[in-house]
Amino acid sequence: MKSFDIRTKIFFGDNALDRILELHYKKIMVITDPFIAKSPLLPQVTERLQQAYIDFSIFSDVVPDPPLDKISAGVKKLLELDPDCVIALGGGSAIDSAKAIREFAVRANGKDIALIAIPTTSGTGSEVTSFSVVTDTEKNMKYPLVSESMLPTEAILDAELVKTVPASVTADTGMDVLTHAIEAYVSVNNNEFSAALAEKAIEICGTFLLRSYLDNNDTHARKKMHVASCLAGLAFNSASLGLNHGIAHAVGARFHIPHGRANAIVLPHVIEFNSGINKHSKSRKDYPKCVEKYCNIAKLLGVNNFNEITTIRALVGWIHFMNEEMSIPLSISQCGVERKEYMNAVEQMAEKAIADACTATNPRVPSKADVCLILEHMYD
Ligand SMILES: NC(=O)c1ccc[n+]([C@@H]2O[C@H](COP(=O)([O-])OP(=O)(O)OC[C@H]3O[C@@H](n4cnc5c(N)ncnc54)[C@H](O)[C@@H]3O)[C@@H](O)[C@H]2O)c1
Ligand SMILES: [Fe+2]
Repeated sequence: MKSFDIRTKIFFGDNALDRILELHYKKIMVITDPFIAKSPLLPQVTERLQQAYIDFSIFSDVVPDPPLDKISAGVKKLLELDPDCVIALGGGSAIDSAKAIREFAVRANGKDIALIAIPTTSGTGSEVTSFSVVTDTEKNMKYPLVSESMLPTEAILDAELVKTVPASVTADTGMDVLTHAIEAYVSVNNNEFSAALAEKAIEICGTFLLRSYLDNNDTHARKKMHVASCLAGLAFNSASLGLNHGIAHAVGARFHIPHGRANAIVLPHVIEFNSGINKHSKSRKDYPKCVEKYCNIAKLLGVNNFNEITTIRALVGWIHFMNEEMSIPLSISQCGVERKEYMNAVEQMAEKAIADACTATNPRVPSKADVCLILEHMYD
C-alpha cells in the first residue's frame, strides 16, 4: 500500500507575503542568515509582523550547509524565547536550520511550535519536505535528517524575494531543482503523484531556468522557477532522491562546493551510470527500466531523438549545455580542487555516498567501485 499527502499549506502568487497579515501567533522567532538579516528582504517580513501586532525576535546565526553547533545554539535560543511559531526566511540553509532547531526544541520541551517556511532561493524545495540536511564539520559529512515532524506547517512562495538572487546562485539552485525532479522521477519509490509533480518541474526548468539566469528582471521566469522548486520538493518528498544527491553530499561536504553546483556536475555522470548508456554505447534489444523514464524527461525538455541511445546522449548534452551557459564548472578540477587531494579522498567519499540515505532509492544499485569510477570521471 502506498499513500500520498501534502501536509504543508502553500500560499503563492502575487502578494503571497500578505499571508503574514492573517497570522495569529503570540510570539514568532524568525530564523534567517546574516546576509538576509541586513538586506531589504527581512523588513518585508518584519514590517508585516508589526502590522499584524505580532511580537518577534530575529535569530540570524545561520551559515551555509548548517553545522551541528549552530543548530544547538539555535535550539538554546528557541527554548529561551519560547515562541509559538518559527518563521524560516532564506535559502535551504536557513530553512533546514529552522527545521532542525524547531525539531530538537519540540523534542526537548514537548510544546508544539508552528513552522512557516519562506524560501528566498528557488532551489531546495525544503519548504515542503521532511528533510533537513545538516553538516558535521569535524567529520566533513552531510547528513540528511528525515522526519515527517519536520514538515513546515505553511510555505509562502513570493517571487518578490528571489529578485535579488545573484546569477551564480540562480544557476546552482536551479540545477538543484532539476536534479530533484529528475531523481524523484527515476527513483524506485516514484509513483503517479510524484511523477506528475516532477514532470511539471522539469518542463518549467526547460523553459525558464536559463531565462531567469540570463535576466534578473524576467519576473515571469522567476515566478515559474519559484513554483518549480516547490513542485520538485513535493515530488522528492514522496519519491525520495538517488545517487546524484548521495555523491553531491559527499563531495560538497568534503570540498565545500555549493549543493546545487555539486549536483549539476554529478548529473551527467549519474544519468550515464543509471541508464548504462555513454558515448561508446551501441543499440541493444533491452534497456534498464529507467531508460524509458530518462527518455520521457528528454521529451519534456524538447531534446528527444530517434532512439534510446541518441536520446540519452542528447539529454546528457543538454545538461552540459545548461551548465556551460550558466558558467557552472563542468568538472571538479574547474572548481579549483587539487587533483591529488581529491583522488586521495575518492574512496572515503564513495563510502559516504553509498551510506547516504538518498542513495537507497537510486534505480541502479551502485557498488563502491562504481561510485569510485564516477568520482574519478568527475574530476576532469
Ligand atoms: N531540505 C531539503 O529538502 C534540501 C534539499 C536540497 C538541498 N538542501 C540543503 O540546502 C542548502 C542549500 O540551500 P540553497 O541552495 O538555497 O543555498 P543557501 O541557503 O546556502 O543560500 C546561498 C546563498 O544565497 C544567499 N541568498 C539567499 N537568498 C537570497 C536572495 N533572495 N538574494 C540574494 N542572496 C540570497 C544566501 O545568503 C547565501 O549566501 C544546503 O545545505 C543543501 O544541502 C536541503
Ligand atoms: Fe538538493
